Amino acid sequence: MKILLIFFTFYLISGAVRCFNVSGYSGGSVLVDSGKLWFSDSPKYMAKLPEWRTIINHTKHNKWINEGRFTLFQNNERNLMIYIRDLNQHDAGRYQIGPDGQSIIDMTLNVEEDSCCKVSNRVMVNIGETASFSCEYSQNHINHSKIIFKEGKDSVEEMIRTYTSSTIGRFSGYDCRNKKLIILRITAVTPDDGGVYLCGIWIYRHSFSYSIITTLHLHVITKVGVSSVSGYSGGGLMIKCEHPQYKTKPKYICKESDGCSERKSPGVQDEWMENGDVSLYDNTRAGVLMVFFRELKAADAGTYRCGVNVSHYTEIFTELQLNVKHDFSMIIIISVCVILLLIGGFTLTVWKLRHKRRDPGSVQINSNDDLPTIPSDGLLYAAVSFQKHEESLSDAAVRFSKDDVHCDYTAVSHCMRLN
Ligand SMILES: *[C@@H]1O[C@H](CO)[C@@H](O)[C@H](O)[C@H]1NC(C)=O
Ligand SMILES: *[C@@H]1O[C@H](CO)[C@@H](O)[C@H](O)[C@H]1NC(C)=O
Ligand SMILES: *[C@@H]1O[C@H](CO)[C@@H](O)[C@H](O)[C@H]1NC(C)=O
Ligand SMILES: *[C@@H]1O[C@H](CO)[C@@H](O)[C@H](O)[C@H]1NC(C)=O
Repeated sequence: MKILLIFFTFYLISGAVRCFNVSGYSGGSVLVDSGKLWFSDSPKYMAKLPEWRTIINHTKHNKWINEGRFTLFQNNERNLMIYIRDLNQHDAGRYQIGPDGQSIIDMTLNVEEDSCCKVSNRVMVNIGETASFSCEYSQNHINHSKIIFKEGKDSVEEMIRTYTSSTIGRFSGYDCRNKKLIILRITAVTPDDGGVYLCGIWIYRHSFSYSIITTLHLHVITKVGVSSVSGYSGGGLMIKCEHPQYKTKPKYICKESDGCSERKSPGVQDEWMENGDVSLYDNTRAGVLMVFFRELKAADAGTYRCGVNVSHYTEIFTELQLNVKHDFSMIIIISVCVILLLIGGFTLTVWKLRHKRRDPGSVQINSNDDLPTIPSDGLLYAAVSFQKHEESLSDAAVRFSKDDVHCDYTAVSHCMRLN
């Protein structure tokens, strides 16, 4: 985020109008201490000139009035504060801010494009660890005091004020002048430490003050458990991420090896939603996020974060190791078939070999018969006994397999059937 520079010129034209000249940077924010008391029982308004576009028109007696990026609030000194976030060029111009009928603030806001300072960054930290973050400021504020604020639900609280360094409890602030950085360190981080921090440069001038602010988001993330699950490649897999203590809080799953850049979440609760290759269901009765991988791929394997947003800046998660196994069942079935076929083929071959050896006996030549001694005698073998009857298969004299019957019979079909 940009550092905001507020040139806060404050002069009294009359007893009723106070004119402020404030400058900020595009992308930054402006925090102005009006130096005027906040009158709780008077209505508050803020309008943009010259068209008198109403931004805030509030009659309730709150101490914090917020409309989008515009906020009027009462600080601890009971002063009226003006806080405008995420400035853009369209915000430049004149504003009228009315605490009540007594006096009116006429504020001119200049919004400058600047490349001086870093845009707000996000810091992630695990519970119990030390968070350390820094905000850059420009050279001309090197001698000013630095203040770090934290945004509350409806307040901006001063955390630490420092010229060089100071420590209050777990919080330490350093003004690192040679690098032009404000550094904040928080030790033994708790879930409550998550939130929006404002690195401010507070400049006191006469009876008023102004600030330069960099916004920083601290996310506190806590791992509360580890588990693992396995599935088969090509199959479906259901994962249950259980957060029973945060039933209604929005839940998500993300892949840690991808830096959790893509958080998958159903978007709605108590309804199945598809998101890419998975279907998700955030069950608010059980506090469970169900994640269904419709067709598990090898690339799905890895470490996942099953998280829940406890608050805007606090998350807890369980780590889940997903293993993807190859599905061997088809290979096993094919292997068994191949083995069975091989065994069958082998048996058949052995059987055939055995019977090939016996085949000469299937045509018996009676030794008593007169065998032709001269080849020219031709094929007149009266003593040839040839049998084809199934029942005669048991007869040691003639044996055919069914196949053999067909083949051999064909081969000797010219022979006379004698029985
Ligand atoms: C406000 O300040 C800016 C520079 O900081 C200056 O250019 C501008 O003229 C001032 N406007 C008024 C109304 O004083
Ligand atoms: C502010 O709201 C009141 C009613 O709540 C209305 O009467 C009044 O005209 C509004 N003022 C502006 C400037 O919009
Ligand atoms: C800061 O203070 C030092 C000495 O105290 C001075 O030399 C320097 O000019 C000051 N810088 C600014 C930007 O005011
Ligand atoms: C949880 O919080 C993170 C950070 O604030 C946000 O990006 C994400 O969208 C939130 N997720 C859900 C499911 O609300």
